[in-house]
Amino acid sequence: MIRLPNPCLVVLVGPSGSGKSHWAGANFPPGQVVSADRLRALVGEGEHDQRAGTDAFAVLDLVLDRRLKRKLLTVVDTLGMDQARRRGYVALARRRHVPVYAITFDAPAAECRARNATRDRPVPAKVLTAQLKQWPSVLDAIGEDGFDAVYPAAPVTIVNPELVTAPDFSRRQQEEPLPLDFGLHVTNFTWPGGPSELGARLAAIARAAEEAGFAYLSVMDHFFQIPQIGRRWDEMLDSWTTLGFIAGNTTKLKLLTLVTGVTYRNLAHLGKIAATLDVLSGGRAVCGIGAAWNEDEHHAYGWRFPPVKERYGLLEDALQLLPLMWGPGSPSFEGKVITVPEAMCYPRPLQERIPIMIGGSGEQKTLRLVAKYADACNLFGNVETVRHKLGVLREHCAAVDRNPADIRVTQLSGVFVGNEPPPTMPSMVVVGSVDEHIGRYRELAEAGVQTAFVRLADLGGTEPVERFGEVIRAFG
Ligand code: UTP
Ligand code: MG
Repeated sequence: MIRLPNPCLVVLVGPSGSGKSHWAGANFPPGQVVSADRLRALVGEGEHDQRAGTDAFAVLDLVLDRRLKRKLLTVVDTLGMDQARRRGYVALARRRHVPVYAITFDAPAAECRARNATRDRPVPAKVLTAQLKQWPSVLDAIGEDGFDAVYPAAPVTIVNPELVTAPDFSRRQQEEPLPLDFGLHVTNFTWPGGPSELGARLAAIARAAEEAGFAYLSVMDHFFQIPQIGRRWDEMLDSWTTLGFIAGNTTKLKLLTLVTGVTYRNLAHLGKIAATLDVLSGGRAVCGIGAAWNEDEHHAYGWRFPPVKERYGLLEDALQLLPLMWGPGSPSFEGKVITVPEAMCYPRPLQERIPIMIGGSGEQKTLRLVAKYADACNLFGNVETVRHKLGVLREHCAAVDRNPADIRVTQLSGVFVGNEPPPTMPSMVVVGSVDEHIGRYRELAEAGVQTAFVRLADLGGTEPVERFGEVIRAFG
């Protein structure tokens, strides 16, 4: 089985009669296959109008470019024996940031001849003989054309781009396990039973998460549902109050917002809230914090939504103030934006330092603040993005003489475990089997992720949490 990501460009390569069009028809809907034959029929007198070849290829190049620009999975059904054309396809795919694969059709010469002979309009024998003679040198050279991979023809399965290499990584995880912590990120409270059953259901989910091996439970810090997840009037709970409730219903989970916007609360008060959660939960609070973005909520509640520079000023103030709040005494604090005459908070948190996690991965400002102040970062995106962001973070660390190993790397993604995702699912969800998710998380762990926050697309009860437990156990 060949695993191909959607989108990608697939280039078929093989002599006439080797089975290219047959394979394309068996593995892809007709709309995804762009065939030189069909284009000859479009711009010439028929599929076999060789005089229309130049025009057909001009149209083909245009069609490919426009399709890849739209990130549409596309199969190029041409002979593929011309190296310059193959390299042209690779260059086009690179320009459009779409992966590109070659599929080779290595049918025995006699079979190509026999199939060709049965056609209505066979390719002239001399032409086919020349192709078959050239074929071994094509197979030799194709590895140098720059494809992401070259596969001998076989049945295809189309997978999420993040799962293409997952089976290999899953195997590696079985052979030499790497550790990875998981956090359950609860973002939606529109659940069966409605508000009257919400408390009991949430408590059950939190206990199931602890049971399944999740190390963290996080909630968003929003007041209305955000457009990425649902409708503005969907159920949303106050974040820190919810964490207090979950603390009372669990014993091990570390608890955090992912992440608290600096604009929503007086920041000394935020320090007090986090300290309270830490004390009452037995030292399980983490303080997630970020520069805030959701202008809509600010307008609705009559809060100021300061310009971006001021929000980052506030964030930096918070990063300096919070440890003072949680420390001994009652020092005064004068920040860029705020002044706190008495940063006093008793009882102090049980943890010597409540870990501070900064959300966001802006390369100029946010990751610089992570390097300077934070105990953890939170990144989005696929494994390449994570690698890139961690490279940037290492540079910021070098600039301020911080050991990058002291910063916990966390990542957040939407996940569905199984084959049939619910119909009303937010778009950014990776759908795959237990094994595929194990492989994907292994790859993220190799890239440096230490905690994976998981937004389960079908969360509404304990069953999806238990189902994800199988992924967690592969890392335990
Ligand atoms: P194709 O029409 O798929 O060959 O197969 P091709 O590689 O695309 O050839 P060109 O380059 O366009 O000329 C040739 C014949 O063999 C049959 C197909 O149905 C078609 O009639 N075939 C191919 C099979 O019956 N089984 C196969 O596995 C492959
Ligand atoms: Mg064909």
